[in-house]
Amino acid sequence: MREKLSNGFNRRELLKTTGAAAAVSALASMSIPSVHAAEDSTIQLALVGCGGRGTGAAEDALRTTAGPTKLVAMADVVSEKLTNSHGGLSKRFANQVDVPEERRFIGFDGYKKAMDCLKPGDVVLLTTPPAFRWPMFAYAIERGLNVFMEKPVAVDGPTTRKMLQLGEESVKKNLKVGVGLMCRHCAARSELHKRIKDDAIGEIVLLRAYRAAGPTGSAFTTAKPDGISELLYQIKNFHAFLWASGGAVSDFLIHNVDECCWMKDAWPVEAKGFGGRHYRGNNVDQNFDTYSVEYTFADGAKLMLEGRCMPGCYDEFASYAHGTKGSAVISTKSHTPARSRIYKGQKIDSKDDLVWSYGQNEPSPYQLEWNDLMTAIRSDKPYNEVKRGAEASLVASMGRMAAHTGQLITWDRILNCDHEFAPGVDKLTLDGPAPLLAGADGKYPIPQPGKVTKREYA
Ligand SMILES: NC(=O)c1ccc[n+]([C@@H]2O[C@H](COP(=O)([O-])OP(=O)(O)OC[C@H]3O[C@@H](n4cnc5c(N)ncnc54)[C@H](O)[C@@H]3O)[C@@H](O)[C@H]2O)c1
Repeated sequence: MREKLSNGFNRRELLKTTGAAAAVSALASMSIPSVHAAEDSTIQLALVGCGGRGTGAAEDALRTTAGPTKLVAMADVVSEKLTNSHGGLSKRFANQVDVPEERRFIGFDGYKKAMDCLKPGDVVLLTTPPAFRWPMFAYAIERGLNVFMEKPVAVDGPTTRKMLQLGEESVKKNLKVGVGLMCRHCAARSELHKRIKDDAIGEIVLLRAYRAAGPTGSAFTTAKPDGISELLYQIKNFHAFLWASGGAVSDFLIHNVDECCWMKDAWPVEAKGFGGRHYRGNNVDQNFDTYSVEYTFADGAKLMLEGRCMPGCYDEFASYAHGTKGSAVISTKSHTPARSRIYKGQKIDSKDDLVWSYGQNEPSPYQLEWNDLMTAIRSDKPYNEVKRGAEASLVASMGRMAAHTGQLITWDRILNCDHEFAPGVDKLTLDGPAPLLAGADGKYPIPQPGKVTKREYA
């Protein structure tokens, strides 16, 4: 299959149907930059945010079963990250990585330069901390690029509204957009979802989700050391800062929230939340170390969400559904394998009550999400996960705001909340200030439930 342009033509068709002069002008208006792909079916990739997940997502994209791909450009704000990612990918995919020095970009405008190396219909991977999703996605839409973006896609009400609007624009432009809530592509969970729709456990009345572990990611962060700017320190430790990541709730718990709401086929309408900072030691980040959220759906059903980052406690990373006729394990431990199963009563893990279990080897949902995206691109089928990704991000923010403010937070309240954590995120520069400042004691503003109630921190 030939490379498709955003107008639905491939290059050869464009030349044939418009005549050489018109085609030259049409192609020129797309300002196709340095990479001129041969007339083959290769889809070119640009990686923006070359950290752990970005490198992993690039691997999945290079390994996709849906036709040839090639990485041609990379961007990051930290050159070491880009160099390490490039080194590893080049070793593992020698024939599919073609990113010479002139297509490696460092800085806050690097994403534009990397995307300028692609042509409409290629794919950009947005795998920076989520704060940067909306400006990067806006530019990808302008360039007519298909997109893979990691979750969360927004961290607060205002950025969710931006993403919902950008999502609509991208649908109108027929762009294919995958969002890294990969559990939606999991074979075991998909089979469970089908069985739940076929009434295997009756009406869902309760969902439970747990992610309880020791300190995770950069959720616990000590004061800025010398030798790094305030801004790069906050970006490096993005789980610590609500503007950058939405914190531990948005970043860590969103997968559980999303898989539970998928099984219910609904989003909750309101949330009550609890949490606290127990053993913070020298950590200066904005997170609580326990979160407990009760979400309510329109039909009155509940989702109980428990998050804890605390060593020495009972650990669990799983989601469950309880229905009027039975119960189900949605996921067992971490993201994969899910080992989804159904029980006839409410006694999860009762061997006698087991009705169904997926019971086969589970392919990686990280690979499946890429196979699905690339298949949709190549067959030009509608494929756009932005609305769902933005809504899942909003539900995570709703629970977090409920815990941080101590207020009952409705869907409408979080969606219409005007507290944008980092309004100027699209204008940051390497030598400029960070969106959040520490106080004289070196600590950052933390949530104060019951005291600061209109926004998550003062
Ligand atoms: N789906 C999953 O299971 C999963 C797993 C891990 C991470 N993630 C998500 O992936 C994203 C990245 O997480 P990570 O663990 O890879 O973090 P990371 O810190 O390893 O990587 C992020 C990279 O982005 C770079 N970066 C930051 N701001 C940038 C900007 N403005 N322009 C260009 N580069 C920039 C950083 O320097 C870093 O190299 C997050 O949204 C996270 O939630 C998803």
